[in-house]
Amino acid sequence: MALERTLSIIKPDGVAQGVIGDILNRFEKAGLKIVALKLTQLSLQEAEGFYAVHRARPFFGELTEYMASGPVVISVLEGENAISANRDLMGATNPAEAAEGTIRKAFARSIGENTVHGSDAPDTAATEIAYFFATTELVN
Ligand code: CMP
Repeated sequence: MALERTLSIIKPDGVAQGVIGDILNRFEKAGLKIVALKLTQLSLQEAEGFYAVHRARPFFGELTEYMASGPVVISVLEGENAISANRDLMGATNPAEAAEGTIRKAFARSIGENTVHGSDAPDTAATEIAYFFATTELVN
């Protein structure tokens, strides 16, 4: 077991559906501690920087415009195996493949509007957390 931190984003469709509290509650009930949290709207440039690894993908424009289209809730979650624990809570990227009981099964409409983002590995988690939060914004 490893104590990890991971970045979570409640995407514009999650905020618009009014399920911020529901999703944060799922994190807390699963034993993930929220150590940083903010509500913000990304500029297109911020979204493009965050998803730079996907720049060559055909869906890059659609993805980044969508992520900048409305408010998002960005948090840092901490816990044992937090990266995989969060991904288990989220469910598969494509909501059509998401398991019962997952966030995407409950709320996501499509692979683009899939309600939540979560880091996929320790190196990307560190990069993504640093992209949105200064070290001083993380509580212990
Ligand atoms: P996320 O976990 O935020 O990381 C990259 C995102 O790209 C992913 O969730 C999806 O929302 C999005 N994505 C992946 N594949 C596609 C696709 N084929 N069409 C549109 N968006 C996609």
